Amino acid sequence: MTGTDDNRRSGEHGHVPVMADRIADLLTPGIEAMGDKAVVLDATLGAGGHTEHLLQRFPSVHIIGLDRDPVALGGAVGRLSGFGDRFGVAQVRFDQLSDAIADGDGAVFELARAHGLAGALFDLGVSSMQLDQVDRGFAYRVDAPLDMRMDPSGPLTAADVLNTYSHGELARVLNTYGEERFAGKIASAILREREKEPFTTSARLVELLYSTIPAAARRSGGHPAKRTFQALRIEVNRELESIENALPAVCDELAVGGTAVFMSYQSLEDRIVKAYFAKRTTSTTPPDLPMELPGHEPSFRLATRGAEKATKDEIELNARAAPARVRAITRIRQDSAPPTLRKP
Ligand SMILES: C[S@@+](CC[C@H](N)C(=O)[O-])C[C@H]1O[C@@H](n2cnc3c(N)ncnc32)[C@H](O)[C@@H]1O
Repeated sequence: MTGTDDNRRSGEHGHVPVMADRIADLLTPGIEAMGDKAVVLDATLGAGGHTEHLLQRFPSVHIIGLDRDPVALGGAVGRLSGFGDRFGVAQVRFDQLSDAIADGDGAVFELARAHGLAGALFDLGVSSMQLDQVDRGFAYRVDAPLDMRMDPSGPLTAADVLNTYSHGELARVLNTYGEERFAGKIASAILREREKEPFTTSARLVELLYSTIPAAARRSGGHPAKRTFQALRIEVNRELESIENALPAVCDELAVGGTAVFMSYQSLEDRIVKAYFAKRTTSTTPPDLPMELPGHEPSFRLATRGAEKATKDEIELNARAAPARVRAITRIRQDSAPPTLRKP
């Protein structure tokens, strides 16, 4: 079956997994090397599109699916039940992946504990399914409650951020996570408006953004709500913190030969992944020494050159693939502790 046919098939479930064939190619060496002991962690299970693709393409692979969203998890479990004990799940934030593997019940978790991971996939951000669920408040084109929690039991909603943060905190969130040029101006407008009445639904915020962002910037900078909504979503879900903590955790869980793949949809995420991969693939021998010090060689190598993008053909079929950037890292040896220096 070609990638396109496969994507169309998955599309029947309402979700088309992005760069599914390329991701499977990157995971192939680790999966093939571990044979029937291969476990891949799908850290962002969502609708289960990538997991289904992998389970179909590799008849011996096992998958652990994580998602913090119980609705997504429930849907994926129903969709993938036919794969029996080749598939197991946990509802956690992906930076808790080590606890999920240590505590999970069932064959897939036992295999992962015994042999390490053959691979891992992080397809970051929100799913098209979450964007389509109007009452979750992720979309700015419809009036909906200002919620934006991926896990509905989480402690903070977008309305809480808007109604309780100080001017400085709001400006920081909009500037750092939304890269919004008018962060200070928008924060002042939010403080003025919430004095009259707290924010509850998105239309009032979108209206405020239209009236605060100058017309010239509105014409060139995309939808005026795009950056503010991205910033609020990242703050509410602590998204960047979660990626920063998941990177070392997943590297620890990879077996030698295993590959971790990260797919980002915006530069803030991609920069964190790029910087961490650079650190793990570089020797810690001081650069002025003429030879590699034992125990200082890197335990990982890059499996992608720079960030890979979807093909034009895929983007034509699925516009969501356009901003995707894929980076991958492969474990090449166990970490060796630097030798301790003996006293003369
Ligand atoms: C882009 S979708 C994944 C789509 C999936 N690859 C597929 O093919 O159906 C991202 C999913 O990751 C979940 N997610 C995002 N950040 C998370 C985190 N820190 N921990 C756990 N799940 C997370 C979201 O709830 C969402 O369901």
